[in-house]
Amino acid sequence: MTPTAPPSPPADALSHGATIIARTPRLTLRTWTAADVEPIAEVWSDPEVMRFAGVVPPDRIARALAAGLAAHARHGVCLWAVEADGLGLIGDCGFHPHRDGLELAYHLARRAWGRGYATEAARAAIAYAIEHVIRMPSTDGVGAILAWVHPDNHRSCAVLDRTGFVCEGPDPAEEHELRYRHVPGQARPPR
Ligand SMILES: CC(C)(COP(=O)(O)OP(=O)(O)OC[C@H]1O[C@@H](n2cnc3c(N)ncnc32)[C@H](O)[C@@H]1OP(=O)(O)O)[C@@H](O)C(=O)NCCC(=O)NCCS
Repeated sequence: MTPTAPPSPPADALSHGATIIARTPRLTLRTWTAADVEPIAEVWSDPEVMRFAGVVPPDRIARALAAGLAAHARHGVCLWAVEADGLGLIGDCGFHPHRDGLELAYHLARRAWGRGYATEAARAAIAYAIEHVIRMPSTDGVGAILAWVHPDNHRSCAVLDRTGFVCEGPDPAEEHELRYRHVPGQARPPR
């Protein structure tokens, strides 16, 4: 799913400091700041990275990040910034609120592929969502962590396999997409 933008985000939304969502052995997941506009534009404008989601035009990046902050404040989740030790910002990982639960998504710069970062980020995001959203009494009904993937997106399918998702097959409501559901306890142990 594509990073989205609201019609009118607050102009200064990105001027505040980042909130840390999770730290892993190699990564930090956090909320967005103004300094992220340029590096994430590199990721979201790469046609190969965004092959299945659609590139985000440069003039919509700041607005999309402000939308992420607004979604985080409202729903407790969004696509968060992912930083890798020594590499800086390498992409995003997090959730879109969905009527059936939370939809996991991630987009990493090509320079960061093939190192296990997406799997590490997804595991951290899922643990955060289970602790801070799924199990909260106030969010009764937000029970599932889901993902939709194009069957040709083998790298993404592999991330879902490693992080405890089962494929439920083609989703008739989402053309050409496979629907995945997270099953707690199903994830393969980190290597
Ligand atoms: C989907 C995407 C994030 C997956 O990236 P990825 O690099 O394949 O996945 P990971 O970061 O988990 O890395 C796994 C690979 O790193 C390797 N690896 C290397 N060092 C590793 C380590 N220390 N720990 C774990 N894995 C490691 C694994 O063996 C695996 O290799 P393989 O691809 O040869 O099997 C990336 O392809 C992408 O950004 N795609 C475009 C956006 C997209 O389609 N998003 C999904 C829809 S929302």
